[in-house]
Amino acid sequence: MNAPMPHVMNTYGRLPIALSHGKGCWVWDTQGRRYLDGLAGIAVNTLGHGHPKLVPAIQDQVAKLMHSSNYYEVPLQEQLAAKLCEISGLSSAFFCNSGLEANEGAIKIARKFGHDKGIHRPEIIVYEKAFHGRSIATLSATGNPKVQKGFEPLVEGFVRVPLNDLAAVEHEARTNPNVVAVFLEVIQGEGGINQTRAEYLQGLRKICDERDWLLMLDEVQCGLGRTGKWFAHQWASIKPDVMPLAKGLSSGVPVGAIVVGERAKNVLGPGNHGTTFGGNPLAMRAGVETLRIIEEEGLLANSARVGGVLRKALEDGWAGEKGIVEYRGQGLMIGIELDRPCGVLLGQAAEAGLMISVTADRVIRLLPALILSEEEARQIAAILVPLVKRFLADSQPA
Ligand SMILES: Cc1ncc(COP(=O)(O)O)c(C=O)c1O
Repeated sequence: MNAPMPHVMNTYGRLPIALSHGKGCWVWDTQGRRYLDGLAGIAVNTLGHGHPKLVPAIQDQVAKLMHSSNYYEVPLQEQLAAKLCEISGLSSAFFCNSGLEANEGAIKIARKFGHDKGIHRPEIIVYEKAFHGRSIATLSATGNPKVQKGFEPLVEGFVRVPLNDLAAVEHEARTNPNVVAVFLEVIQGEGGINQTRAEYLQGLRKICDERDWLLMLDEVQCGLGRTGKWFAHQWASIKPDVMPLAKGLSSGVPVGAIVVGERAKNVLGPGNHGTTFGGNPLAMRAGVETLRIIEEEGLLANSARVGGVLRKALEDGWAGEKGIVEYRGQGLMIGIELDRPCGVLLGQAAEAGLMISVTADRVIRLLPALILSEEEARQIAAILVPLVKRFLADSQPA
């Protein structure tokens, strides 16, 4: 069989499904088959598909002005930045176009922060199993050899530690005078939905304050309402100094943001950083409307409540199932670790009318839109529970 997209570079293992349109938490393919969307474009379609308030706002903005360049003031940037500062308690924001760009900018902030205080070979503490993107600097910060292989030499200036091990960070604090920042996901997404403990985050906050380091929390996947609060770190009642965002911020329009607090807000100045597309009026309007609709429709509470319903339905459905190792995550960011690789479930779930993801080889990952209803949560479980039972019965543990 010929490759269906011979002119597109072959960088993804894709399913042979082409989606044509969506409505709410449902999508249809070009053959007319319908799927319940448990993935939301990997945590991007915050408001689902074709949201009746978002669509006209974006259409209005497309007709008015899509792009103006950063040579001029962009009032919608100020509007979105002000809202992000209000909901995070931070001070200012820089806009870019993706998660890796937000993280790349965070790494630049950390390095410049170090140089400004006389540390000329600044180092950033990063984590095992982390994922921060696929640019050369962000893949170097990523803790997955598969992402790095073939792209060496990696960028230097990163020290790696295990998650939730405060002693490892304290050791760096005692022995490494070049450390300027700690950089981590509050819930590791690609790494398998691995949660940082609240006390761990609080411990990091304390060390960063004592040492004048930047606490940089990558909320690209776990932020913006997914866990039931605006940002996942808010469950630990702490604030970061630097917070990269992207994915769900504009509900499908490409966007990224670096939101910073007082300690980091004056690190970059004119000429230090920039991007042509970043902060364009289209992406900004989509972001402003997305945050407004999240508030208007109570989607933080919805994420927490419906996430609970979904998790309970899965736990009840798989009660006593030995192949299930652990349930992880919070709100509508759910990971279920199996005792064996389970990548085949992606295609099997699609066959059964459900979009899911499998990450870290053996973790089923659900990241549905924040508008998911309880009924839809039960429907996800009704499809997934028997599918996984059959898979476990028909295969062997690793
Ligand atoms: C936590 C985290 N950071 C960064 C990225 C990279 O974002 P992007 O694919 O938009 O570059 C991702 C993408 O999955 C992510 O999950």
